[in-house]
Amino acid sequence: MAERPQVNRYMVYPLYTDVAKTRAWIESLRPDSGEFGFQLKATGKVIGAGGVKYVEAENAWELGYNLNRDYWGRGYCTEASKALLQWAYDVHGVRNFIACHATANAASGNVLRKCGFQFVRYGRYSRYDGSETFDASFYRMKMK
Ligand SMILES: CC(C)(COP(=O)(O)OP(=O)(O)OC[C@H]1O[C@@H](n2cnc3c(N)ncnc32)[C@H](O)[C@@H]1OP(=O)(O)O)[C@@H](O)C(=O)NCCC(=O)NCCS
Repeated sequence: MAERPQVNRYMVYPLYTDVAKTRAWIESLRPDSGEFGFQLKATGKVIGAGGVKYVEAENAWELGYNLNRDYWGRGYCTEASKALLQWAYDVHGVRNFIACHATANAASGNVLRKCGFQFVRYGRYSRYDGSETFDASFYRMKMK
């Protein structure tokens, strides 16, 4: 999933091209990391990943996600994101969430709004290696 340039287009981290590094990342995840694979019920295939993590500066939990290119446009990311938010609420009592997307990445904005996020402001973020900076849209949501 993360070796495809289309999937990585707006990511802060570089393309994953090394299976060993990818395996090491997966193995580094602890059960309480808040990171999940998105598994297709019908086949058991893992088609994406996402998570929620606490951001101290915002006193809120940030939602993030990625989907294998072959499975875009079928509502899977919205379904998975709603499940992630509900998990954070049920397990950790989280009510305050944040998220952002590159403004050009309209599909991601649609996912956030369908999950109940509201636009707060425009801003920017850069790749970790500084190679690219994106205009971005920042969102918040308070779970009722
Ligand atoms: C963003 C991403 C997660 C969306 O996943 P998805 O499963 O296709 O999303 P969904 O099907 O749940 O919903 C996408 C919505 O955006 C719409 N959409 C899809 N492509 C679009 C585009 N190019 N422009 C505008 N809207 C678009 C869809 O129609 C859908 O809206 P609808 O239900 O009202 O029709 C997926 O494209 C992805 O993994 N992209 C690469 C990684 C990434 O950008 N991650 C997020 C970083 S913030």
